[in-house]
Amino acid sequence: MTDLLPGAALTARGITKSFPLDGGARVDVLRGIDLDVLPGEMVSIVGQSGSGKSTLMYCLAGLERPDAGAIAVGGERIDRASPARLARLRRDRIGFVFQSYNLIPSLTVQENVALPARLARRSRPDTAAALAAVGLSGHERKRPGALSGGQQQRVAIARVLAAEPPIVFADEPTGALDSATGADVLNLLRSYAGADRSVVLVTHDLDAAARADRTIVLRDGAIVEILLRPSALDILAATRGESVRDRGAA
Ligand SMILES: Nc1ncnc2c1ncn2[C@@H]1O[C@H](COP(=O)(O)OP(=O)(O)O)[C@@H](O)[C@H]1O
Ligand SMILES: [Mg+2]
Repeated sequence: MTDLLPGAALTARGITKSFPLDGGARVDVLRGIDLDVLPGEMVSIVGQSGSGKSTLMYCLAGLERPDAGAIAVGGERIDRASPARLARLRRDRIGFVFQSYNLIPSLTVQENVALPARLARRSRPDTAAALAAVGLSGHERKRPGALSGGQQQRVAIARVLAAEPPIVFADEPTGALDSATGADVLNLLRSYAGADRSVVLVTHDLDAAARADRTIVLRDGAIVEILLRPSALDILAATRGESVRDRGAA
């Protein structure tokens, strides 16, 4: 196992994860992933359904423990942290945007946005600014159920903006949205990355993936290609197993 990269926003080496199947066998879902995300960088992860993208995101964000390997977020090992320490690291350093929004239905928009920031003891999270940034000023007192899907996802992004974690993981954040609404959400994530804030995005949308600084192509739980500032066509070719070099030569 090579060394974790000092100074990275996220650095992971040799991540493996398997799940039990009926009958006692196990399925290997991640087969030795090495990945670095630099401060300010946006990295997209693409791959066919079942290639292990969500499992990888869950491991990297400390929501799932890898079977083996090392992961550090902001220089702190999360793979071997105690549950209490891990909860603190997640609270202070990690944001997550899910396809299904994961808002708390009984809380208002304003309360949902303030919650992680308050837990992280930011004394006065600027929820008004966060909601204004996602175009939802005036919706503070509504419950999530009264909002459209796109609005709910923008609340989830405002929740991240208010807590300002150094790294945000977004797993198919536009998967349930129409394309115009999805583009808004993507723009918000793109502009979150920069300075010392990094974004890791899983998406099926090739144009969305191409907005990242770097694209990781996953196949059967392994990284098969890393593309620097690729076009959507480069990503399409790589997910189909053609290398960019082959395409260029053709
Ligand atoms: N908790 C689990 N138990 C058993 N198998 C799982 C579990 N989570 C994921 N898998 C399997 O791991 C593989 C990868 O899943 P996932 O990470 O969700 O892929 P993706 O997000 O790329 O579609 C799939 O074959 C899936 O069925
Ligand atoms: Mg998935």
